[in-house]
Amino acid sequence: MESRDDDQRDQNDHDEVESHDGEGLYIQLISVHGLIRGRDLELGRDADTGGQVTYVLELARALAAHPSVDRVDLLTRRIDDPRVGEDYSRETEELAPGASIVRLECGGRRYIRKELLWPHLDSFADQVLRHTRSVGRIPDVIHSHYADAGYVGALISGFLGAPQVHTGHSLGRVKRQRLLDKGLKPETVESKYNISTRIEAEEQALDNASLVVASTHQEVREQYALYDNYQPKRMVVIPPGVDLDRFRPPDRRWRRPRIQAEVERFLREPKKPIILAISRADPRKNVGALVRAYAITPELRDMANLVLVLGNRDSIRSLDKEPREVLTEVLHLIDDHDLHGHVAYPKHHEADDIPRIYRLAAHRRGVFVNPALTEPFGLTLIEAAASGLPVVATNDGGPQDIIENCKHGMLVDPLDAEAMGKALRDALSDRRRWRGWSRNAVRGAHRHYSWSGHVGSYLRVIRNLTRKTARRKVPAVTGTRLPLVERLLITDIDNTLIGSEEGLEALKRLLEESRIGFGIATGRNIDSARRVLKKWKVPDPDVWLTSVGSEINYGSKVVPDAGWDRHIEYRWDRDRVVAILADIRGLRLQGAEGQRKHKVSYYADPKKMPPIRDIARALRKDGLAANLIYSHGAYLDVLPIRASKGRALRFLAVKWGLPVESILVAGDSGNDEEMLTGDTRAIVVGNHSDELGKLRGRPNVYFATGEYAHGIVEGIEHYRFLEARSNGEWEENGNGANGNGANGSGANGSGANGNGNGAGERVTVENGSAGEALVDTTAREAETGK
Ligand code: GLC
Ligand code: MG
Repeated sequence: MESRDDDQRDQNDHDEVESHDGEGLYIQLISVHGLIRGRDLELGRDADTGGQVTYVLELARALAAHPSVDRVDLLTRRIDDPRVGEDYSRETEELAPGASIVRLECGGRRYIRKELLWPHLDSFADQVLRHTRSVGRIPDVIHSHYADAGYVGALISGFLGAPQVHTGHSLGRVKRQRLLDKGLKPETVESKYNISTRIEAEEQALDNASLVVASTHQEVREQYALYDNYQPKRMVVIPPGVDLDRFRPPDRRWRRPRIQAEVERFLREPKKPIILAISRADPRKNVGALVRAYAITPELRDMANLVLVLGNRDSIRSLDKEPREVLTEVLHLIDDHDLHGHVAYPKHHEADDIPRIYRLAAHRRGVFVNPALTEPFGLTLIEAAASGLPVVATNDGGPQDIIENCKHGMLVDPLDAEAMGKALRDALSDRRRWRGWSRNAVRGAHRHYSWSGHVGSYLRVIRNLTRKTARRKVPAVTGTRLPLVERLLITDIDNTLIGSEEGLEALKRLLEESRIGFGIATGRNIDSARRVLKKWKVPDPDVWLTSVGSEINYGSKVVPDAGWDRHIEYRWDRDRVVAILADIRGLRLQGAEGQRKHKVSYYADPKKMPPIRDIARALRKDGLAANLIYSHGAYLDVLPIRASKGRALRFLAVKWGLPVESILVAGDSGNDEEMLTGDTRAIVVGNHSDELGKLRGRPNVYFATGEYAHGIVEGIEHYRFLEARSNGEWEENGNGANGNGANGSGANGSGANGNGNGAGERVTVENGSAGEALVDTTAREAETGK
């Protein structure tokens, strides 16, 4: 399905690609990081603003232009920071009829690099849910881009019951290997790039996604294959398109572009054909070998000039180390081989100059060259093709596919400078062949790499997914006030609600006087929960989240939520989970009370058992998906991937239209963690267990000094939870969510990270410094240095 050799078929498919209710499709694209806006893209301004940004914008527009699509929302992070343009703070921006950018809060206003966004993604997911409620429609597809969005996509696809499609863009396991090969220490790779958090997010996205869209076969074969969750059957190769309005061949109206002066000032005979290279100044792009090839092939100097567009710079001296080294090597080679007057290396250009430079090279009957050591995709070759410019390209990676499709040039071994020189000479000297290549180039780009073609293939594939998504029916429920209340307190039972008789009395008095909803979330099963509440004389809750959120029941009649039960059945295979975990050291099955349809529970001995991550891996290796929740340093609960206390709570929020911010949650241990993070207002009671220490300093997490229910009462006061407010806004005591001194430790508490749970072992993120190199470039390459 990866080739689109039949445009007619796209047309015929239109009427079939419809969502289940007869309306056109509603698609949410999620791409969290970088600087995204509709025009004047700042590609290459930093490592987070590159090919992916172009990809998602062009995809959004092309999808919306298709007759079977109603609405496309491109969801990204809102940035309100004087260091970047004001555009990035606008809440919505229309891209085209039916397509807009929607910017949601995530981790404050400042523009920060993607490696620092991890702790804020739960909150981003809540914002997505809120946005979805305001649209009033569940998306037919949630398409996540890159690991961060993959994590968010997996969460909300679970909450909303909509299928997730995922595109990795670049993969953490591959990056880690590359950095280690370069000689970086594993600790550095970890602290600078949060690489294991990223990889875990990728695994979770792969766990959940119904479909993975890759750009090349090599990506599927060699990159995704490194993942525990490698499922080639769920992967499809659909290469990205190129904007064919921007990248087009020179025509009769062709006029000298402004950028030409910037190029020609370097050249003695500027009218000669151009050998053009456009890339980031990254050692892997192997530009030195190209200059060497040019130098050692004497005829080339007479035949053509060499033009190197290697990003923007004010001064080589002020570049980061790697681009500085690349440019310095280029200068040395020019001088050593006395290439002065033959090589241009312009200092500045704008994004819009790039298509003009390709056209200039095509006009001068030149050739584009990509000498990279390895090229995962090779978007520049397609841009060259669309401009009518033949190519000479590395034989390693994506260019194989592209040249096979477009037949507009030849492949070379990037390590063989002599061969590269010969290839360039041959490409330039045979005029007839040049014309043939140039013609093939334009035709091939239109045939294989148009966005409309991409969307045609895309919709053909996702049609199957959306058909499967049946309409969800909301069961009628009695015995609960949930549809009426505007606020809801959900508390854990053991060591939170109960433990102090006196505290519990105080809490009961508060609740009696108020009209808020009341729910419990517990590791116990429903019978055991009912028993203990009776014993402690706690009134029946409006909602029961029992067995660690794997079961939801409502009100005094204890009506089960069958929708939830169906919803979390997804990819759950209880028997196989039990079989595989039987062999793991340090785990002992709990008794019958602990075992439920959607919950397998163990007593865990932290001294004997392997790290949770390894247990997760053992399951994945067998193709099983599960959510592992470790608590009290003594229990391990294994749940379906869509289940946990936090996920159950968000399911409630969506189902009953309660904003997540109007839910106050209280807990003491690891199995409470997922409901304490994100946009809920959270209380951690004074007697909490160690594993929650890492939440200190998180926004909206209040660490009470009071123990048990005393802590809940204290938290209610802290958040002024019972004070009705007509505008639905909150005002807290103290300054900020963690205003009181008792809360100590800075913005990023120390992470006792030994035991991650299903939410991903969130490796502690340090503030500031160690910024990923801010690479300066304009090449729009799908493979920007991520
Ligand atoms: C309760 C449950 C047990 C579970 C534990 C941690 O004690 O009975 O099955 O493992 O909570 O969630
Ligand atoms: Mg507890």
